[in-house]
Amino acid sequence: MSKKIVVITGSPRKNGNSFAMTDAFIQAAEAKGHSVTRFDAADKKLTGCHACETCFKTGKACSFDDDFNTIAPAILEADAVVFTMPVYWYSIPSQIKAVIDRMYAFCVAGKDVAGKECALIACCEEEDMTVLDGVRVPMERTAALLKWTMVGEVLVPGVLNTGDIAKTDGIRQAVALAEKI
Ligand SMILES: Cc1cc2nc3c(=O)[nH]c(=O)nc-3n(C[C@H](O)[C@H](O)[C@H](O)COP(=O)(O)O)c2cc1C
Repeated sequence: MSKKIVVITGSPRKNGNSFAMTDAFIQAAEAKGHSVTRFDAADKKLTGCHACETCFKTGKACSFDDDFNTIAPAILEADAVVFTMPVYWYSIPSQIKAVIDRMYAFCVAGKDVAGKECALIACCEEEDMTVLDGVRVPMERTAALLKWTMVGEVLVPGVLNTGDIAKTDGIRQAVALAEKI
């Protein structure tokens, strides 16, 4: 079945490791007949959540009008949402964290977002897999709260420089992830 997939990336590095996996995932997903809409958070005008709780009251998802108001309708329409990012300081990079924080709008406005599929692609420099917990755990809990099913995670440690992903099986895993959606 053809699905609508929204991919949200978090790296500012165009030729980086998470983008290489993202590109491979998107190519595989489109080859399966899915339609993919991609948002590169680092290129977007985005701030964090203002916690004003006026979400969807002005006709837009957020009263503070920026690129989240383009991303939010795409998420609402999506069958699956895929988050891709590096680990920054044992956590989620601020570029994509702004999008995640702003999804609070769905909760405040009582939007029925339940039942979507969700997936995670992440990488980090250190070899220790637990470093990836800094993005894995919050994304799993976010998915659970929104009643999204986490269908797959590609978690690749040991990649620092652009191109390092080629020394791992990250690309193969990203292609395989497309089979799970
Ligand atoms: C600001 C910043 C913070 C980082 N923090 C960590 C970290 O806490 N742990 C780690 O293993 N790697 C860390 N890294 C390394 C990146 O996760 C790693 O280089 C990754 O491959 C970058 O992915 P990208 O090429 O998709 O941007 C950091 C890199 C930057 C630029």
